[in-house]
Amino acid sequence: MYEKPCVLAIDQGTTSSRAIAFDGQANIIAIEQQEFSQIYPNSGWVEHDPEIIWRSSLTAARQAFADAEAKGFHVVSIGVTNQRETSIVWDRQSGQALYNAIVWQDRRTSEFCAQLKRDNVETELQQKTGLLIDPYFSAAKIAWILDQVNGARQQAEAGKLAFGTVDCFLINRFTDGAVHSTDATNACRTSLYNIHRGEWDKDMLKLFNVPAAVLPKVLNSSDDFGMTAPDIFGRSIPIYGVAGDQQAASIGQCCFDTGTIKSTYGTGCFVLMNTGQQPVISKNRLLTTVAYQLNGETTYAIEGSIFVAGAAIQWLRDGLGLIASAKDSQSMASSLSDNSGVYLVPAFAGLGAPWWQPDARGAIFGITRATGPDEIVRAALESVCYQTADLFTAMAEDGITPTSLRVDGGMVANDWLLQFLANVMDMNVERPAILETTALGAAYLSGMKAGIFGNFEELATNWRRDAEFKSSMTAEARAHLLTGWRDAVGRVIQK
Ligand code: G3P
Repeated sequence: MYEKPCVLAIDQGTTSSRAIAFDGQANIIAIEQQEFSQIYPNSGWVEHDPEIIWRSSLTAARQAFADAEAKGFHVVSIGVTNQRETSIVWDRQSGQALYNAIVWQDRRTSEFCAQLKRDNVETELQQKTGLLIDPYFSAAKIAWILDQVNGARQQAEAGKLAFGTVDCFLINRFTDGAVHSTDATNACRTSLYNIHRGEWDKDMLKLFNVPAAVLPKVLNSSDDFGMTAPDIFGRSIPIYGVAGDQQAASIGQCCFDTGTIKSTYGTGCFVLMNTGQQPVISKNRLLTTVAYQLNGETTYAIEGSIFVAGAAIQWLRDGLGLIASAKDSQSMASSLSDNSGVYLVPAFAGLGAPWWQPDARGAIFGITRATGPDEIVRAALESVCYQTADLFTAMAEDGITPTSLRVDGGMVANDWLLQFLANVMDMNVERPAILETTALGAAYLSGMKAGIFGNFEELATNWRRDAEFKSSMTAEARAHLLTGWRDAVGRVIQK
């Protein structure tokens, strides 16, 4: 063993590619970030350039690697975590993508999905995959590429094309085309993976018209995903850990026991609760997902997915110019004594759980001549909390009633937001000392196999709280706010 070993976690997200090196005590040794631009070719369409995904990840990884090694650390293994569902189809021989990555937020397949719903296949799909029918998931995106790119379907059937979520595409590039594998947490977001049998599901492949020949091999989350090509870092490094970013955050938050729950506020907001070895199928439109798979054993989670959280703050900054930086939102929101009845429903990419309304559009309600930037900013922050509350209402209806919530993601630096969250949820909200939970989860998965981290039980002792927020709102005030929110949501969803 090296004197100062570390793990390099590559976190390829919706708006940036990051790389973070952690030592064996989960301290951050090096951190790099490359932001990249979004492509919006049509209303409701969201794409990324796969070459930019690759180059930004490569640059961040190389910089963090060089920085860690310059500090005397030795990178023993790599972990990969990624924006989930985003789909890439590439030519197996050249490694070149046939079309841009179709991003998880993309709504272009909403009519196709609506037809599937009319065909009454949602119950079967939910029972097999744990998911619901929505353009969010990969399968319809893959079919769209195969149908729209000239000759693609024929090539796919002939075994010449590969599909992958972003982890899989990056692993393929890092191994110079040698490996076409993903892990179970990513496979289960495609609508093609049977979460009970732990394999691609023939009926789902048929339903979405996706040829089996394009699919990657599915491995454990801590497993051998191949060696990086020697020229990338000057020597080959094993890739030993892979998980979708929300599952990785859940691991970084040490949600290993049944009933432990986290909520990550990134581009969107995703609540995951560990349900142990039992997949719980929701009756209230939440998702059942793989939390992680280790040594062939699957641990499941129940998930609530909200499509717009940090993206609303980005819109206030880049779209409306109401704030110069995300930080401003805290002082603007707290300068007001209440929300003056203004509600913003950020259905910029339709609405996710528990509504699943791909064609819903965003709206602002309750504005008057006195409404200004502070009210709009506050309404955007509040909307993130109300949406989280909606998920917990759905969970409660499924019999799940947690008493505290671990939070992470870029937005949780905002104390006002977390206090308001605790208030509307009437629940203790805990912020961890290490906020880079997504990258940490990928590092844990990789470092466990490399031998620099112990098992989950030992890792759980690393978790430290930075702050706890407790509700200080009366039940009456909470009920009043939630009634206003539900009225606003009710106006943007199709009944
Ligand atoms: O399912 C989409 C999710 O993985 C995206 O995560 O961090 O970009 O909000 P994030």
